[in-house]
Amino acid sequence: MSGNRTFTMIKPDAVKAGNIGNILQMMNAAGFRIVAMKYTKLSAEKAGEFYAVHKERPFYGELVEFMSSGPIVAAILEKENAVEDFRKLIGATNPSEAAEGTIRAKYATNIGENAVHGADSDENAAIEGSFHFAGTEKF
Ligand code: RTP
Ligand code: MG
Repeated sequence: MSGNRTFTMIKPDAVKAGNIGNILQMMNAAGFRIVAMKYTKLSAEKAGEFYAVHKERPFYGELVEFMSSGPIVAAILEKENAVEDFRKLIGATNPSEAAEGTIRAKYATNIGENAVHGADSDENAAIEGSFHFAGTEKF
C-alpha cells in the first residue's frame, strides 16, 4: 500500500526568482495539505548529507553547492498516493522533458537548477521529513 505523505523542497533558484507563492499555490491546487513547513538554508555539509545517495555522481559537487547557495522552503505534504502524485506534479528532472503544466516545466531553469525536490519513495519521504522536522513541528 502506498503512503499518504511526501517530502519536498522549493530549491534556491525558485526562491530567488520569487516563485515560492506560485509553487505553493500549485501544490495546494493539486490537493496536497501542508503537514510541516519551514524557510531555512542548508549548510554545504547538510546538503551533502541530504543528497548522499548521489555522492558518486559527477554532478554531486555542483548539486551540494547549489542546494546550499540560498534559502529553501522545506515541507511535508499529505495526500492520498502522495509520493507518486507529487512526482507527477513536479515533472521530469530535466525541465526540457517535463510535461506541460508541471512545476518544473513552469519554473525550473535547467536539469541542475530545477525549482523543486520531491521524495522518490515512501521510505525516503519519511527519512527526509525527519531530517528537517521534529515530531512537534508536524501537524
Ligand atoms: P530531486 O531528488 O531533487 O527531486 O530530483 P530528481 O529525483 O528528479 O533527480 P535525481 O536523479 O534524484 O537528482 C537529484 C538532483 O540532482 C541534480 N541533478 N543534476 N547536472 C545533472 O546532470 C544533474 N542531474 C541531476 C538536480 O537538481 C536533481 O534534481
Ligand atoms: Mg531524487
